[in-house]
Amino acid sequence: MTQAQRGGAVIAVGNQKGGVGKSTNATHLAAALGLRGKRSLIIDLDPGAGSTKLLGVPVDSFAGSLELLTTDETVASLAIRDHMPQGVHLVPSRQQLLEIETLLSKFAARTRILDRVIAEARQQYDYVFLDTGHSAGFITTVAAYSSAEWFLLSAFAHPLSLAGLTDAFRDIADARRLSNPDLEVLGVVFNAVDGRATRLRAQVETTVAEALPGRRFDTLISQAVILPEASLRGKTLFQLPKFESMPVAQQYLRLSVELEHRVHNREAFLSGELGPCDYGVISHLLEPLGRELEQLVVNG
Ligand SMILES: Nc1ncnc2c1ncn2[C@@H]1O[C@H](COP(=O)(O)OP(=O)(O)OP(=O)(O)O)[C@@H](O)[C@H]1O
Ligand SMILES: [Mg+2]
Repeated sequence: MTQAQRGGAVIAVGNQKGGVGKSTNATHLAAALGLRGKRSLIIDLDPGAGSTKLLGVPVDSFAGSLELLTTDETVASLAIRDHMPQGVHLVPSRQQLLEIETLLSKFAARTRILDRVIAEARQQYDYVFLDTGHSAGFITTVAAYSSAEWFLLSAFAHPLSLAGLTDAFRDIADARRLSNPDLEVLGVVFNAVDGRATRLRAQVETTVAEALPGRRFDTLISQAVILPEASLRGKTLFQLPKFESMPVAQQYLRLSVELEHRVHNREAFLSGELGPCDYGVISHLLEPLGRELEQLVVNG
């Protein structure tokens, strides 16, 4: 099936190891795509509400994914649109999502609770990011793995992250085998990369290359204290002044180009025949100062 036939692309953002950049990746990739005119919905499926907090939405103030999954509410009625990054809407979460089991009908098929929601969201958005929490067995994590056609694996380039990767590979394989043969790994985002720790990075990259050949992204996300600082203020980097000059914002923009290239050319990507992507589409968003200087040089 082509992307046009499917509607928007549905991407589960996972790795059930806690604190490996899932919510940071979901929000920053959606915001990077938004800068280029794409519409994204983030559905926060984590009772810890990572994307909700990162986008500055006060938890407990809004109905969100719990109502979406247990009542007749719709994406259109629940999505938050105000004070979001350009092109990004959010169905928020809160801790009460933990009670979802008791609120679902006993006849509801546990792996299929997102289907109605996703069918609606695909019609309205180019991308639907499903941000999952750190419990692999939690009902919304299982449903996300069962309903998405893409899986975006988040990993910190850290020794502790290596063990978690093996669990993630097994969860993806189980989801494919038992409930969603369509699920494909879109790529592995290496987050918080320390430029000096080259041996460690090589080790993590080798592990991923062996388990998921051809699925690494060329763009790495550097370790940058501005990410936790911005998230404490409830903002993505793209909502801060002068984001164009921030290396990590540029990395997310580049990553969004890689992501889109793969999504738009799914068959070629999966068969290993995908050509290089064109970063020219973001040149107007990068380092305007540098380009102005270039012009000065060119024009004498
Ligand atoms: N590139 C980076 N450099 C430095 N810190 C980062 C980077 N990316 C993410 N962080 C920080 O690491 C912490 C964990 O990130 P994040 O919340 O995105 O992980 P998560 O996988 O969603 O966690 P959880 O499993 O709890 O949902 C946050 O404080 C975030 O700001
Ligand atoms: Mg999170």
